[in-house]
Amino acid sequence: MQHPGGNTLREAVALASRAPSLFNVQPWRWRAGAGVLELRMDRSRVLPETDPTGRELVISNGAALHHAVLALRALGWQVRVERIPDPAEPDLLATIEVVAAAEPGGTDVALAGAACERHADRRQYRPEPVPGELLGDLVRAGRESGADVLVVEGEQRHALAQAFIKAAVMHGASERYRAELAAWTGLTVEAAEGMPESSSPVHGQRYGDVVVRDYGRVPVAHEEVGSPATAGSLLLVSTRADDVRAHLAAGEATSVVLCRAELAGLASCPLSEAFEVVETRDHVRRTVLHGQQYPQLAIRVGWPPRTERPPRTPRREVREMLRELADR
Ligand SMILES: Cc1cc2nc3c(=O)[nH]c(=O)nc-3n(C[C@H](O)[C@H](O)[C@H](O)COP(=O)(O)O)c2cc1C
Repeated sequence: MQHPGGNTLREAVALASRAPSLFNVQPWRWRAGAGVLELRMDRSRVLPETDPTGRELVISNGAALHHAVLALRALGWQVRVERIPDPAEPDLLATIEVVAAAEPGGTDVALAGAACERHADRRQYRPEPVPGELLGDLVRAGRESGADVLVVEGEQRHALAQAFIKAAVMHGASERYRAELAAWTGLTVEAAEGMPESSSPVHGQRYGDVVVRDYGRVPVAHEEVGSPATAGSLLLVSTRADDVRAHLAAGEATSVVLCRAELAGLASCPLSEAFEVVETRDHVRRTVLHGQQYPQLAIRVGWPPRTERPPRTPRREVREMLRELADR
């Protein structure tokens, strides 16, 4: 079979690098061989206070996996993905094997474009509701990745929003969390990782019922601005199991939802604080998910405000995250 050239694999990794990751740590390593990409988690980039078990590190890798597959499809290749292919090597999360050349599908091309443009929008959204049909499309698309996606409303939304407030207060009171956050925030764009000030313009605010993560001084009290509608709709990504395979699926589902939202003209932002504190995560599992599923990540989606969109967050160079298989 004809293999894609090295440039194609590099382009796929370049798009994968645009995937979202906790604090923009970009915790992935890629290796490229003849028609194959291997994805490994980079444990050196785990955030020990915020994500001690590496759950979100794997979710971030799941998003990168979906981005890479999308890029290859959009470039005209059919792929076969094996997740966690080698139990003897647990850091190897996936292999993507190119199996044939194919006519790129219009949707994949459009979604790859959206993946390139997408970035987290932490502002208040316009209060017009997102139509149920559009939310339904996001939910259906996300569920195809093996995780569940739910629109959280009414009492369930109240419980979820309360869990976020409680977790934010607990984070605010933790010196170690604040120190870890400080190390990754307020960086210059040249740092190529972490959270530049331009990406996190809001401090100490709650949009109606929803508190957004503060990438600044992490206050224990939040000023309420706007109505719940300006926080947008809340989607919850959850899984039946709580292992690496489930976390990878949650990341893929998150990526699908974010890219589809971007394509539909929606602003979006992942939210994870409530799931980083054992107590609030358990509470969401019991009250919102009836003890049946493990919450992995929430996503705000809504109509972007008409003011200028904040700039894209920087990324590390592809050559830093990609090695040839022969270099092993
Ligand atoms: C597992 C995970 C958790 C995240 N948690 C939050 C969060 O709680 N609040 C937030 O504003 N952004 C959150 N994000 C978004 C990241 O901060 C963002 O993806 C990263 O800074 C890269 O920027 P970009 O997605 O805008 O390109 C999260 C992303 C992932 C993958």
